[in-house]
Amino acid sequence: MKRLKQHAIWGRGSFILAATGSAVGLGNIWKFPYITGENGGAAFVLLYLFCVLLVGIPIMMAEIMLGRKGRSNPINAVDNISVDIGATRVWSVIGWMGVVAGFVILSYYSVIAGWTLDYLVSALEGKFSGLNGDSSNELFNALLADKSRLVQWHTAFIAITALVLMFGVTKGLENAIRFMMPSLFILLLILLGYAYTTGEMVTSARFMFSFNPADLSWNSALIALGHAFFTLSIGMGAIMAYGAYMPSTAAIGKTVITVAILDVMVGLLTGVAIFAFVFATPGIEPSGGPGLMFVTLPVAFGSMPMGTFVGIAFFGMVVLAAWSSTMSLLEPAVAFFHERFGFHRISASLLVAGAAWLLGLGSVLSFNQWSDQELLWGMNFYSCLDFFTTNLLLPIGGLLTAIFVGWRMKRDMLAHEMQQDHPRLLAVWRWILRYVSPIAVLAIIINLFFPIAT
Ligand code: PHE
Ligand code: NA
Repeated sequence: MKRLKQHAIWGRGSFILAATGSAVGLGNIWKFPYITGENGGAAFVLLYLFCVLLVGIPIMMAEIMLGRKGRSNPINAVDNISVDIGATRVWSVIGWMGVVAGFVILSYYSVIAGWTLDYLVSALEGKFSGLNGDSSNELFNALLADKSRLVQWHTAFIAITALVLMFGVTKGLENAIRFMMPSLFILLLILLGYAYTTGEMVTSARFMFSFNPADLSWNSALIALGHAFFTLSIGMGAIMAYGAYMPSTAAIGKTVITVAILDVMVGLLTGVAIFAFVFATPGIEPSGGPGLMFVTLPVAFGSMPMGTFVGIAFFGMVVLAAWSSTMSLLEPAVAFFHERFGFHRISASLLVAGAAWLLGLGSVLSFNQWSDQELLWGMNFYSCLDFFTTNLLLPIGGLLTAIFVGWRMKRDMLAHEMQQDHPRLLAVWRWILRYVSPIAVLAIIINLFFPIAT
């Protein structure tokens, strides 16, 4: 088996921080609150929690196990393991799909993360004060229409991502994450404290958690499942790539449960904070859609006492969350070029980030010049990339991972990798991986092409 002689291994706790950094991102702070708002609140939250538990956690454990056992980038890791267990090397498509999905997601994720940098600067300049719904909309539309400003922020975001990876796995990734994650959590606490002072925390929590069965629909179940993949960063090798740096003595099951709880908590807590601001500001609706973060929140920040400060804390938090996610999107491809072709990490980072930057220009144009330019099924360039990665590549990657680990790998081998976890957990995990996760994922994919219910 070809493996690197001196593969970097992270110190205690770093893996949890890095995996949480990958998981917590725009998915939690931007997407989760608005899809919760659009899908009726608490009923959706409940579905999402089920999906995280039954599909997300088991597949995340499988991915980390593969990465750690293979001690390599996702492509080589799955390839090595299939050779080891005498399975066909075709299984390495899991790794290939993951590296490609990560690269494509990075290209557009960085564009949207760029908006958060722009908003951080606006917050610092105090531009939110006195905004109303209309002027906030204008501000956002002006940003989307300004190609060169979008390119500038997209470039900045890809650059700071590549910069961290160039320094390598311990000096770059590990050090960055050890500074970023505590800062992120401090900013989140400030935000929650402030949301509490709006006096609308209870209304907000009621909106998020008081469950009305009538709001449940088959369609929102599918959205919840897709979001469980995206939010946990699974189905695309990011967590697998990080798994390669996890110490052998760490317990995978416990770690994954911690990461999933943190990810879910950040989604729920930012949701509660955001809706508290929304409810405290007259004339603003929770069902504001994708504009919730960029149009609605600035109005709230602009009209509340100390709003400038809260706005800075909020967009600072979002930038850190997005940054720690883009790092994990870039890592699989960088590790692949480094380990497979012997590229230095600096040239690998520059090459992959440069290519993702180029592809990202298509997403930049999708918000102005090409916005009505239909590429497929009524979707423009950006929507196509988002659709194919989030709704197809990630679930299919997760499905194949569940089948490979659940059905192709021997129980003893899994027991060996999972020896730090309780045997009962191992048994439950393997059973869910074999039966529950694949069926649930197949259900989303099939429903996508042959909608049986809406
Ligand atoms: N989990 C990240 C988020 O919620 C997005 C992401 C997806 C990051 C896939 C890495 C891999 O924003
Ligand atoms: Na997330």
